[in-house]
Amino acid sequence: MSESLPVNSSKEEIYRELLPQIEAVIGGTDDLIANLANVAAILKQAFKKFHWVGFYRTTAPNLLTLGPFQGPPACVLIPFKQGVCGTSARTQKTVLVPDVEQFPGHIACSILSKSEIVVPLVHNGQTALVLDIDSDELNAFDQTDQNYLELIVATIAKQNFCNPDNQMP
Ligand code: SME
Repeated sequence: MSESLPVNSSKEEIYRELLPQIEAVIGGTDDLIANLANVAAILKQAFKKFHWVGFYRTTAPNLLTLGPFQGPPACVLIPFKQGVCGTSARTQKTVLVPDVEQFPGHIACSILSKSEIVVPLVHNGQTALVLDIDSDELNAFDQTDQNYLELIVATIAKQNFCNPDNQMP
């Protein structure tokens, strides 16, 4: 995986190397849970400042449930009206939070989390899941992260939600 890159690689170089790896890994199975688990692991391994990487899936109207993740244990249920994850799920937009203490309603699953990005996967007009990444550094995420993480979520959508041979429940 990204061990082949020099230690001083830019995050853009790391993401560029990760994208084909993610495509190859998730292209090998139609199992959504396996794919989310591997994407969480690949991202967590690639970036030291990613303190928590995982997914919340929509399991009932306006409700997210914890899915595969890497990092400390996290809250299980998040209503769409709460937190950064709920905001992203409700607005169907990526939410970038440079300082979680400045985000009204932020849900603190870990006191170590200082900044956060949440990217929604929208299918047929509905939020199917969100990718949530927390960092123990302030201001850890920028437009580069947003662009590549949105591409990664689009890759999951293509593999697990748009393939007619491969529709998920
Ligand atoms: N901080 C998130 C909750 C999930 S944890 O970060 C893993 C939120 O405000 O929605």
